[in-house]
Amino acid sequence: MARKRQAVSLSKTIMTELVLPNHTNALGTAFGGVIVSWMDIAAAIAAQRFCGSSVVTASIDALHFLSPVKLGHVVNLVAQVNYAGRTSMEVGVRIDAENPISGERTYTAKAYLTFVAIDETGNAVTVPEALVESDDEQRRYRQAEIRRKARLELARELKQAQREKRPA
Ligand SMILES: CC(C)(COP(=O)(O)OP(=O)(O)OC[C@H]1O[C@@H](n2cnc3c(N)ncnc32)[C@H](O)[C@@H]1OP(=O)(O)O)[C@@H](O)C(=O)NCCC(=O)NCCS
Repeated sequence: MARKRQAVSLSKTIMTELVLPNHTNALGTAFGGVIVSWMDIAAAIAAQRFCGSSVVTASIDALHFLSPVKLGHVVNLVAQVNYAGRTSMEVGVRIDAENPISGERTYTAKAYLTFVAIDETGNAVTVPEALVESDDEQRRYRQAEIRRKARLELARELKQAQREKRPA
């Protein structure tokens, strides 16, 4: 049976947070782990919107913090599915921090998260094929394919190295 196609644009998720004292480190800027948890939530919502199933986070990669976020500043997260495999999806998340007084925005962090769709018994299930429409979506899809290849190749090589290390 042909797989359903789903427009990746339907997965677009926008989330806004405010950096409060309990989110900060000793320097008075947002703690990286808090930002990662917000990224994971925004990206999981995007993945679920795309596939219509529950999802689990399989991996997070290319996580970059580009600039610190100050206490009292607003964190704007945008997440969207870039690519869909058979049961997994890559979601890209971009974060821009916002000074609530001046309105100035600063590109703060980005990451790519892979989610696997699961059924109620925890088994991986097929996701729809990704329908990419805009030039940006097509570029993100091609780049996600390259990252996926590299990710799976690295996982294979590490497994192989582990096997070779084990005594017979
Ligand atoms: C993620 C998980 C379901 C993958 O299970 P698995 O048996 O290794 O999966 P498979 O080898 O059958 O691969 C299933 C899909 O996951 C992808 N995948 C598996 N490991 C991956 C990884 N480390 N990074 C990215 N993708 C991965 C595979 O490429 C495959 O995608 P495809 O169907 O689109 O080709 C499993 O490792 C798991 O349950 N991990 C814990 C998840 C979790 O608790 N997350 C945190 C809380 S949500």
